[in-house]
Amino acid sequence: MKIKKATSQDLPAILEVMRFGSNVDHTDFIKQSVRAGKCLVTSVADKVTGFGIIGNSLLFYNHEFIELLIVHPEYRRRGIATALIKRMESICKTPKLFTSTNQTNIPAQKTYEASGFIRSGYIENLDEGDPEIIYFKRLEGADRGGEK
Ligand SMILES: CC(C)(COP(=O)(O)OP(=O)(O)OC[C@H]1O[C@@H](n2cnc3c(N)ncnc32)[C@H](O)[C@@H]1OP(=O)(O)O)[C@@H](O)C(=O)NCCC(=O)NCCS
Repeated sequence: MKIKKATSQDLPAILEVMRFGSNVDHTDFIKQSVRAGKCLVTSVADKVTGFGIIGNSLLFYNHEFIELLIVHPEYRRRGIATALIKRMESICKTPKLFTSTNQTNIPAQKTYEASGFIRSGYIENLDEGDPEIIYFKRLEGADRGGEK
């Protein structure tokens, strides 16, 4: 498996993977993230198998946040999301990394927990009847801009 920063050439394949993991069309957001160098993509034998987007959002109190993480269904349970998370941790510029997923999304919860994320509260009233669980991981490393 290879991981690299996505380029515009990866976009069609990334958008295909997106459709397997989200009911919402994130095309514009993904395009912006690729342009900004914030989208990582995995491939197996030159086929795009997954992607992850990390961003520093003012909306999330300036902490970096894993905004999207989707693996093609045929390639799940092979450690691809884990590898993407690890790489996002390595490029994360803040000492705390956050993400979130729905309470009903057990695979995502298990994936983040397996990578050492812990629960850090939840937000109601986003998806009706399906709270958004916040996950958090404190990262080690000297050059992450200090404690925030
Ligand atoms: C969540 C998702 C990204 C996980 O991708 P993945 O590549 O299959 O995850 P990994 O193979 O790295 O899994 C790591 C560990 O997480 C746990 N895990 C992952 N999927 C699981 C599942 N369906 N059931 C139980 N545990 C699971 C396991 O402990 C797994 O390790 P193991 O396979 O050695 O037992 C993938 O299921 C997906 O794309 N889902 C749809 C989009 C989504 O929900 N994104 C999450 C953000 S909202």
